[in-house]
Amino acid sequence: MAVPILHKRKLIPGRVSELVLEAPQIAAKAEPGNFIILRLADDGERIPLTIADTDAAKGTITLVYLVVGKSTAHLETFEAGDTILDVCGPLGRPTHIEPVGTVLCVGGGTGIAAMHHIAKGHQLAGNHVVSVIGARSEDLLLFEKELTAISAEVLVATDDGSRGHKGLVTEVLEQRIQQGIEAGESIGEIVAVGPVPMMRAVAELTRPYGIKTTVSLNSIMVDGIGMCGSCRVTVGDAVRFACVDGPEFDAHQVDFEEMMRRQCTFSEQEKLSYDHFCR
Ligand code: FES
Repeated sequence: MAVPILHKRKLIPGRVSELVLEAPQIAAKAEPGNFIILRLADDGERIPLTIADTDAAKGTITLVYLVVGKSTAHLETFEAGDTILDVCGPLGRPTHIEPVGTVLCVGGGTGIAAMHHIAKGHQLAGNHVVSVIGARSEDLLLFEKELTAISAEVLVATDDGSRGHKGLVTEVLEQRIQQGIEAGESIGEIVAVGPVPMMRAVAELTRPYGIKTTVSLNSIMVDGIGMCGSCRVTVGDAVRFACVDGPEFDAHQVDFEEMMRRQCTFSEQEKLSYDHFCR
């Protein structure tokens, strides 16, 4: 079913954009943590994107994507008023959300937009949401306004110090954990969404504290329904498929080393395809 694009916003021109799609059936069912898979052409790649927001009343879903290869470069040519060939979803298991006190939601890159939907779910459940976001510089920060609207606190880190703490998002996270411990605060959960090295660093940081930590894995996906095996990850001693068993997993159990290796599986083909598209 063709899905109309209602709005397009260039968050970082040429690199990151936001689309609002008219998808009432998905908007009615989608929960934080869910994702969709879209196709732009019959023979096109299936593009998995985490849902950044929904509005069930308006029947819309919001997606944010990074222009990273041929298919997302193709998607970037679409504008409001165009239609997407088909959108499949909601897919994946929704985030487990319950009242737990303070929840620290960590986001990096386009993961910040995906983290927004999870943070919103925790806020609606009555949790004290602290959003911790990072980017290389201020102009690359995403969704700060949206997160400010739903968070009790928003903490920012930039590599160049142009906004907030100068340094890594994990440094801000550690400071906030320490501050919480000193104040006797109950930190119920930490959620991290972003580049794999960032999620891995968050997992290593929180492990000694024993705080429940959840990551949303952006594995390579093809079918999104557990049949192709491309999104395979090792969690603890078990093989899991991010599309049907996740995409969220216990960060302390994920084999990030293996995941980073698998993320590079098609790098050469992706580059060839992108170069061909750009010609
Ligand atoms: Fe095919 Fe998950 S995307 S098994």
